[in-house]
Amino acid sequence: MADDSAPAGKNAGASTLTVRDNRTGQEYDVPILDGAVLGADLGKIKTAEDQPGLSVYDPGFVNTASCRSAITFIDGDEGILEYRGYPIEQLAEKSNYLEVAYLLIHGDLPTKEQYDAWEHQITFHTFVHENVKGLMQGFRYDAHPMGMLLASVGALSTFYPESRNIADANVRQMQVVRLIAKMPTLGAWAFRHAQGKPYVYPDNDLGYAANFLSMLFKMSEQKFEADERLIKALEVLFILHADHEQNCSTNAVRSVGSSQVDPYSCVAAGIGALFGPLHGGANEAVLKMLRRIGSVDNIPDFINGVKDGQERLMGFGHRVYKNYDPRAKIIKKACDDVFEVTGVNPLLKIALELEKIALEDEYFVKRKLYPNVDFYSGLIYEALSFPPEMFTVLFAIPRTSGWLAQWLELVDDKEQKIARPKQIYTGDRGLDYVSSSERWA
Ligand code: SDX
Repeated sequence: MADDSAPAGKNAGASTLTVRDNRTGQEYDVPILDGAVLGADLGKIKTAEDQPGLSVYDPGFVNTASCRSAITFIDGDEGILEYRGYPIEQLAEKSNYLEVAYLLIHGDLPTKEQYDAWEHQITFHTFVHENVKGLMQGFRYDAHPMGMLLASVGALSTFYPESRNIADANVRQMQVVRLIAKMPTLGAWAFRHAQGKPYVYPDNDLGYAANFLSMLFKMSEQKFEADERLIKALEVLFILHADHEQNCSTNAVRSVGSSQVDPYSCVAAGIGALFGPLHGGANEAVLKMLRRIGSVDNIPDFINGVKDGQERLMGFGHRVYKNYDPRAKIIKKACDDVFEVTGVNPLLKIALELEKIALEDEYFVKRKLYPNVDFYSGLIYEALSFPPEMFTVLFAIPRTSGWLAQWLELVDDKEQKIARPKQIYTGDRGLDYVSSSERWA
């Protein structure tokens, strides 16, 4: 929690802002709480009773807190990421995705009974209504898997109409289980669709990540056996992508959720936001960027293009991290484990050299641009035989538990109301309508 006490001296101990409005000469004491001032308090600063109060103009919410949350803590300067207070490094090393999903959703690590019940619930909700399969088969052969995922998740709201009763805690929890359970099935089916291969049904004998790999890659064998090292690598990647406080897609989930719509519609909105190349689509963009650079010799020209504003160094930079993204460090290490099985991705050499040059270049150092979660993840996904179009699907699947934890927190938050920001109007006023016959005469 931010320290609101004032430094020693004038107003020592006060946790207020004294604002003088030079338009009226009036002074206001604005309370500071948790390092923030309330927009409503600024709204009291007016030039006259019948005039609107002050608003805050903050495009992209660069310096605006939209909620109070106890789910994920990030210290961007120190490169710290914690889920419910547990450091991401410890969770990635010692936990598994379903346990982390439980932690995010329920707020505590599960007991053995809780974990077994949770794992059983998720495992036995991995199947999807056959009509959803029909919907997915209606897409073109080259439909982007993220578009298919967005549409099929949104469609699930029509199969579970009771999900609109979000006031009922049991109904909320049932949809949470269904969404976490079914996302791998939908993601795998989108992948198989693009390949023109038959959709593979879930295998309830397998764990979460192993079952996902089976639905992706199983062919005529009776039982798909994935390499344990690849299962572990996927579990780690899922843990790292599970939540990240108020990022763009979580903001979309919360904003849509504030209208009290069902959680399938909220998660579909999150998928739409994540699809963007500045957000979760960056991992796909990184691979395409590395391919375009083609060789280490071409890096200096590319870097110059970035500095001239012709390019963006995809996979670099972050709104919050002004230090190395702790997830990128862990993913970089996971590369070695995966490449032990699959062979080294030849693009790794370009990525490592690009990172080395960028971290020494003033342009990037001045702007505190470091590798983020998307810089190395695509190299692993490609080594696991995923096409770049699938990379953001691999982000959306694990992020579903984070989106839903944030949605549950929103629903229970008595301070929240429907999201409806103000605007600064810049258009015309008071025009008289001229009929089209006159206008076109
Ligand atoms: C994710 O928010 C989250 O938590 C997201 C995420 C999550 O887990 O949910 O962490 C996942 O989305 C990671 C980010 C993936 N995106 C990319 O890798 C795309 C490339 N990165 C950028 O476009 C950018 O860094 C953002 C979008 C990530 C952050 O943008 P900001 O905070 O709005 O910063 P900005 O665009 O205002 O940039 C500040 C300066 C600008 O230069 P000046 O105008 O001051 O001269 O840095 C420059 C930018 O031009 N800059 C870059 C750059 N990122 C920022 N220049 C070159 N290459 C980049 N990648």
